[in-house]
Amino acid sequence: MQADYIEATKDLYKEAAASPEIGLCCTTNPIWQFPDLNIPKKMIDMNYGCGTTVNPRDLINNPTVLYVGVGGGMELLQFAYFSRKNSGVIGIDIVDEMIESANNNIAEAEIQNKWFSKNFIDIKKGDALSLPLADSTIDVAAQNCLFNIFKTKELEIALSEMYRVLKKNGKLVMSDPVCEQQINRTLKNDNRLRAACLTGAIPINEYIKMITEIGFGTIEIRAKRPYRVLSKNRYPTKENIFIESIEVCAIKDPMPKDGPCVFTGRTAIYYGDQNYFDDGKGHVMLQNQPLSICDKTASNLTNLKKSDLFISEPTFFYDGGGCC
Ligand SMILES: C[S@@+](CC[C@H](N)C(=O)[O-])C[C@H]1O[C@@H](n2cnc3c(N)ncnc32)[C@H](O)[C@@H]1O
Repeated sequence: MQADYIEATKDLYKEAAASPEIGLCCTTNPIWQFPDLNIPKKMIDMNYGCGTTVNPRDLINNPTVLYVGVGGGMELLQFAYFSRKNSGVIGIDIVDEMIESANNNIAEAEIQNKWFSKNFIDIKKGDALSLPLADSTIDVAAQNCLFNIFKTKELEIALSEMYRVLKKNGKLVMSDPVCEQQINRTLKNDNRLRAACLTGAIPINEYIKMITEIGFGTIEIRAKRPYRVLSKNRYPTKENIFIESIEVCAIKDPMPKDGPCVFTGRTAIYYGDQNYFDDGKGHVMLQNQPLSICDKTASNLTNLKKSDLFISEPTFFYDGGGCC
């Protein structure tokens, strides 16, 4: 039997499919627009994500994309913009009504976009906890604002399922709320609030630990931004709770012997008198040139206690270029 909150989640999204609820989950960050991409209004109204999972850099060479938890279909359309092949984007959702709404929106998108065929997207009924897909068949797997709803046991299963279906070096791109404060049990166990992506958030380090324990060898935190405040006036909490949302990419790279490479937007700059500094572990820093480094390397370099080496704090804005 499935947990109550899983059933409550299905009910909430059945309602959200029937009457779009603007502001349910989504942030006000601008929606990706690309040349010749027209996103139907209903898709925008049904944006139930909390960031974006679409990054052109991940989408070269016409990848096969999996998108779990389809909502109104907006990100599936944005992914299809890059993959442009029949069934290039596979959507999975457990709620019939959501699948129907997404398919209607996709049919409307076909009318509004000359380059787009609705055959580019194939939505199947299925569960994030048991994906109806073969092992190692997907280049890019995405989920936006679904996995935060899951409790620990289900979150582990959902992440393992994504890992299973990804090809070697495939990418799992996700956007979810996170929270560094303790969210009390009353809030955590409120099925409706959890389903609405408000009270399932966990701290970033816990989230990253769960991803790396599944086996993903490289993690990139690409963005972090304010998401919600659960105020003590409106919610059963003694203190206001500040929630942020993050965009993460987990890469199915082999796990390095000394642990995962987690990029949180840290940079090293060597500003000494030599032309470069070589740490002997594969990091060559040209004089006064920034080098993106993972947390592991940041910690190793800090331990060298070099007075001519600057190491930044995490910016939580990593956009590639790191060497590990
Ligand atoms: C918060 S909405 C996010 C929708 C979409 N990702 C977006 O950004 O607009 C969660 C979505 O996950 C779907 N969903 C809920 N539980 C699911 C499950 N166990 N397996 C697959 N999809 C699920 C809901 O029907 C809904 O479409």
